[in-house]
Amino acid sequence: MATILLTGATGYIASHTWLALQAAGLRVVGVDDFSNSSPEVLNRLHALSGQAPDFVRANVCDPVAMQALFARQPIAAVVHFAAFKAVYESTAQPLVYYRNNLDALLTVCEAMRANGCRRMVFSSSATVYGDPVRLPIAEDFALSATNPYGQTKLIGETILRDLGAADAQWQTATLRYFNPVGAHASGRIGEDPRGTPNNLMPYVAQVAIGRRPRLAVFGNDYPTPDGTGVRDYIHVDDLAAGHVAALQRLLATPGSFTVNLGTGRGHSVLEVVAAYQRASGREVPYDIVPRRPGDIAACWADPTLAQQLLGWRAAHGLERMCADSWRWQTQNPQGFSV
Ligand SMILES: NC(=O)c1ccc[n+]([C@@H]2O[C@H](COP(=O)([O-])OP(=O)(O)OC[C@H]3O[C@@H](n4cnc5c(N)ncnc54)[C@H](O)[C@@H]3O)[C@@H](O)[C@H]2O)c1
Repeated sequence: MATILLTGATGYIASHTWLALQAAGLRVVGVDDFSNSSPEVLNRLHALSGQAPDFVRANVCDPVAMQALFARQPIAAVVHFAAFKAVYESTAQPLVYYRNNLDALLTVCEAMRANGCRRMVFSSSATVYGDPVRLPIAEDFALSATNPYGQTKLIGETILRDLGAADAQWQTATLRYFNPVGAHASGRIGEDPRGTPNNLMPYVAQVAIGRRPRLAVFGNDYPTPDGTGVRDYIHVDDLAAGHVAALQRLLATPGSFTVNLGTGRGHSVLEVVAAYQRASGREVPYDIVPRRPGDIAACWADPTLAQQLLGWRAAHGLERMCADSWRWQTQNPQGFSV
């Protein structure tokens, strides 16, 4: 049975992917420094899978810790999630973001190379498309970054492309996620933002549960059907399944690839609010406030390539995303803090 290393393993997307990989018959070892996650995630994973998680607490920028991790057991592939991800924070603290996100990738790649492991799944983002000239967004669109976080994803993709060009044994799957939302259907794991949520659905969830009084909707004068921003929301369990499919391809077929992981459908802020109100039975009061600088009007994926290459497509719609988010929110009103 192949062992897969997950970096950033107790984070939102990785924790769901951990369960999906185990369900697909793969062994998982996880590493995280809890800089943006809780050790409680490990208890939840244990309860859900019935297996004690194989986990190491470490900063993946620490080369000694990474070497020790690879020395413990042969690793067939790495899924590299570990990164800081808050766009607005990255504009205020660019050095912190460049240091962590790029150092993490370089250190993990160096440990992989030193130990003969050359398969990586990389967490990229639709943010690398900048402000797209048309929709839906396909993988061959021009790339640009409007903030330091996006730059770290663009540079990360470049590093992996250069590695593949220098050594044909490197196989990388670059996955450009659109907007991950929702939670595991059990309600035991989900997104637990620290402080004020940066993304729409966790914010809406906290308004619905009464932790925050009102939602601020940034602009209703965009060229979209109801004037609010449109995004391609994807259920985190669909995203997890996309990682399993990408890994299975890397393990079975030579070569590298880059694919969008999105549903191919866009929903406006007001559509999300309405769907969340239906799922929760609660009102989500909101105010329209000025646009945020840097926000684009609309963004959704062309998911055709992922379907062709991986046989993967998103299964869950917005109603399910909201229902699962609400279950997680009501069962864990304070997130993983118990
Ligand atoms: N959630 C999104 O909207 C989104 C969209 C596109 C791409 N991504 C990318 O997907 C990946 C996972 O995102 P997420 O939403 O699960 O975020 P998350 O913050 O929940 O998970 C990231 C995990 O990495 C850990 N981490 C960060 N730096 C580390 C380091 N140096 N050493 C060890 N652990 C470290 C954090 O503690 C956290 O548990 C990230 O690379 C992110 O940039 C996320």
